[in-house]
Amino acid sequence: MTYFERARQKAKALIESGSATVLAIETSCDETAAAVVRNGREVLSNVVYTQIPLHRRFGGVVPELASRNHVDQIGVVVEQALEDAGRTLDTVDAIAVTCGPGLVGALLVGVSYAKGLALSHDLPLIGTNHILGHIAANYLTFSDLEPPFSCLIASGGHSHIVRVAAYDRCELIGCTRDDAAGEAFDKVARVLGLPYPGGPELEKLAKDGDPKAIRFHSAFNEGDGFDMSFSGLKTAVINTLHTAEQKGEAVSRADVAASFQYAVNSILSDKAVRAADDTLALAGGVSANRNLRDMLQRKCEKKGVRFCCPDFKYCTDNAAMIGSAGFYLLMNGCLSDLDLNATPYLPIC
Ligand SMILES: Nc1ncnc2c1ncn2[C@@H]1O[C@H](COP(=O)(O)OP(=O)(O)OP(=O)(O)O)[C@@H](O)[C@H]1O
Ligand SMILES: [Mg+2]
Repeated sequence: MTYFERARQKAKALIESGSATVLAIETSCDETAAAVVRNGREVLSNVVYTQIPLHRRFGGVVPELASRNHVDQIGVVVEQALEDAGRTLDTVDAIAVTCGPGLVGALLVGVSYAKGLALSHDLPLIGTNHILGHIAANYLTFSDLEPPFSCLIASGGHSHIVRVAAYDRCELIGCTRDDAAGEAFDKVARVLGLPYPGGPELEKLAKDGDPKAIRFHSAFNEGDGFDMSFSGLKTAVINTLHTAEQKGEAVSRADVAASFQYAVNSILSDKAVRAADDTLALAGGVSANRNLRDMLQRKCEKKGVRFCCPDFKYCTDNAAMIGSAGFYLLMNGCLSDLDLNATPYLPIC
């Protein structure tokens, strides 16, 4: 029998029992992460090693450095996750690993490592979409949340409004035409002289500013559609700062930060709430932004829509969310063979 035939047999038994403890691995960008998750909802361990200090001096993620650092850390992180959960490779049932989207070299580290573990221990392997993982962060926080529901994904590389039709299937409602929301936060933060990653730093600076001080707007976002655009807002911030500099006028960085944050969050929340029927979930790194969470909560309440957003520890990249998404893929029979590859532009819909 081949590896895949043995894995398929094991997976069949797990699907029949409706239960599985999944070791999950995430290396799509600059976090090396591993977790053990039972039945898609119960986190037995969650270890995240962040490379942020390594990349900070370059003002952003350097892909080659990220890959090499994943190679250094992955063994330690996986061992720690198993130890924290009180498990070994003989007492987990399957391995879920992020196979895209993300940086190809970074993804390959996790995918190769997971394949090695799966083959050596005859464990079913589940190639898992990173964005399905971000959505699943909500399952870890709200034990009763089940598809279908609407979801706003706002992360470093994505700004999507989707209908989560099933655990393994999304329908696209709208997405950004240019920068992702997190990317726009990072770029504007950089112009304001803030360190990487800029989103949380910009949020801190914005606390001392007036969100109505400067009106940043872009005509594209004012229509009835669900697609979004953030690069015009970014240019508007740069123009405001340059114009003030040329005129020798002082400009409050805190006001710029607060006004930009207000503009981005207004677009995201207006469109997402308009797209939602009964439940709206928020996912991706920008879901850590309190101003966005509050704005969505208020607008959902007004429309009578239930609002869910992940616990702060599951907002940015982590492996617990991959363990949850991976469990549901496994239960739907979505198994990977040893030819699983990294797919940098893996779509979600
Ligand atoms: N409090 C915050 N306010 C605004 N943005 C934030 C906050 N916290 C994190 N972010 C942003 O979230 C992004 C990181 O999120 P995440 O880790 O999900 O992105 P990624 O994994 O790089 O991209 P993707 O998930 O699309 O592949 C960064 O752009 C970061 O600035
Ligand atoms: Mg992410």
